[in-house]
Amino acid sequence: MFDPQGPTLRELTVQALSSVERGYDLLAPKFDRTPFRTPEKVLDAVVDTLRPLGPFESGLDVCCGTGAGMGVLARLCERRITGVDFSAGMLAAARSAHPGVPGGPAVHWVRADALRLPFVPAFDLAVSFGAFGHFLPEQRPALFARVHAALRPGGRFAFPVGAPPRIGSALYWTLWGFDAAMRVRNALWRPPFVMYYRTFRLPEVRRELAGAGFAVETLPLEDLGRRPDGSPRARLVVARRE
Ligand SMILES: C[S@@+](CC[C@H](N)C(=O)[O-])C[C@H]1O[C@@H](n2cnc3c(N)ncnc32)[C@H](O)[C@@H]1O
Repeated sequence: MFDPQGPTLRELTVQALSSVERGYDLLAPKFDRTPFRTPEKVLDAVVDTLRPLGPFESGLDVCCGTGAGMGVLARLCERRITGVDFSAGMLAAARSAHPGVPGGPAVHWVRADALRLPFVPAFDLAVSFGAFGHFLPEQRPALFARVHAALRPGGRFAFPVGAPPRIGSALYWTLWGFDAAMRVRNALWRPPFVMYYRTFRLPEVRRELAGAGFAVETLPLEDLGRRPDGSPRARLVVARRE
């Protein structure tokens, strides 16, 4: 699962016993060699699905990490792209991986907590990948309200969600076990490391986005295929600021 040049078990343990921010600072140099970095095939599928909704001028990658979503924005936005994350280590890795290209959009990096995004309504596209597990369900309305406030009227907030694993499948029990271990860890150890896989459920998320002022639709990510019952393996949530 892990690249031999990725983090060692000891490094992952130290990371998991830190705060989220400090943990990512420590992991940053090797983050792109972990399975936590959003895979290119997911990023490509998002680009293909978003492109017909463009063109876009200015894009924001919320919880950008080492910049997986910045590559998406660079392909879709014409003027300016901004990555925001609270880990200085992740931002440093992102900055060296995405210096910008002549003729491409201007690239900016901002260190900030996504729950306190410091932006006026300047963006027409916001994306986020692989980070919602770091927010407790009760924090999501504030997160969605901050993204909403950063978008121009008509701007879109887009992110992929995988189909929930079939109850009783190997993946179901793996995620269940991970979340249970995290709950035990957080009951016994400070600072907490908030990372839960099974708290981000589409029906609740849709309601919360609507509550923040978004009109929500979902589009199948066709490039990621379909399940045996014909339903898409993953969808793109596209929330439009009304
Ligand atoms: C699993 S990584 C995902 C990085 C990247 N988006 C990707 O898909 O590869 C999660 C990122 O979310 C950031 N993060 C978590 N909570 C955050 C918060 N409250 N504000 C800003 N960034 C946050 C972490 O620092 C980390 O870089």
